[in-house]
Amino acid sequence: MAMQADLKLVEHDEDGVDLAFRAEVLRGLSEQQKAIPARWFYDMAGSELFEEVTRLPEYYPSRVETRLLESHAGKIAEFVGPGRVVVEFGSGSSVKTPLLLRELDASAYVPLDISGEFLRRSCSELSAKFPELTIIPIEANFMRSVHLPGSVEDLARIGFFPGSTIGNLVPHTAIDLLRSMRDTLGDRSQLLIGIDRYKNVDRLIAAYDDTQGITASFNLNLLTRINRELGGNIPLDRFRHVARWNPLWSRIEMHLEATDDVAFTVSGKDVQMREGETIHTENSHKYTPDQASLLLKASGWTPIHLWTDAADDFMLILADATEHRSAP
Ligand code: AVJ
Repeated sequence: MAMQADLKLVEHDEDGVDLAFRAEVLRGLSEQQKAIPARWFYDMAGSELFEEVTRLPEYYPSRVETRLLESHAGKIAEFVGPGRVVVEFGSGSSVKTPLLLRELDASAYVPLDISGEFLRRSCSELSAKFPELTIIPIEANFMRSVHLPGSVEDLARIGFFPGSTIGNLVPHTAIDLLRSMRDTLGDRSQLLIGIDRYKNVDRLIAAYDDTQGITASFNLNLLTRINRELGGNIPLDRFRHVARWNPLWSRIEMHLEATDDVAFTVSGKDVQMREGETIHTENSHKYTPDQASLLLKASGWTPIHLWTDAADDFMLILADATEHRSAP
């Protein structure tokens, strides 16, 4: 079947400004530690830069996860069974999806992504590879629970959440998200999630501060996007990319650090920063298998299988929706 008209759950004002983007940037820039949620990286240019990141020698997660899917998708399909709707959260370019879809006998594919343009492009590539598959793209922020279209309402689902995107959220919010996925997907659903593992800190930092400066461009592109979409005048040459390890939270943090005192405006609002002050733009939490397992259990998911690589770099976990029961 061909692709269906996609649903759009993103609000814009009369000038085409994404209202949530403006609100979150303005709020984030007025805080003591300035911070902007990482999902705003992914405009067209940012999504393309991220694709470049995934090909970097230092950035192992994408390569390792792809290899895990290549090696184990057959076994995963045995655990999952035929006829499920595959709901992918934050599908991006959907590069890993074919590895799963070619083994699963899926009844439909529902990719959710915040970047509409990118979503439509990758869906048409996918429908060329799987002409028989029903594809229903939804442009949405998957942090909120999403109502799945009526055509797939009565079918069993499997959520697919690769790329260790869960690591972008602090544990508290990660649990909110996993619980909301449990609501979206329903009883008897499953979840296949990819999570980056805790490892040598030098390797982690290198993965987020590559020698070619692609990750730096990816980070700085957020400022370009703010200038373009929110009428800003942030001086890009006064900011530099920083990647740090935070041991308390077991995460890599990306920041944009002012290299001078700077003053700029965004959407008519004045902002000042001192030299050395940063805008915190991303967290990437790293988990051990035990921690990941607890995160899932705390969110209504029962882990049933874990696949990892020989170097213990990355893990894929398949979980069943935990049954609701009264006691104990
Ligand atoms: C796709 C969000 C999981 O945190 O590793 C890559 C994004 N940021 N390099 C990650 C990212 C910098 C990536 N995620």
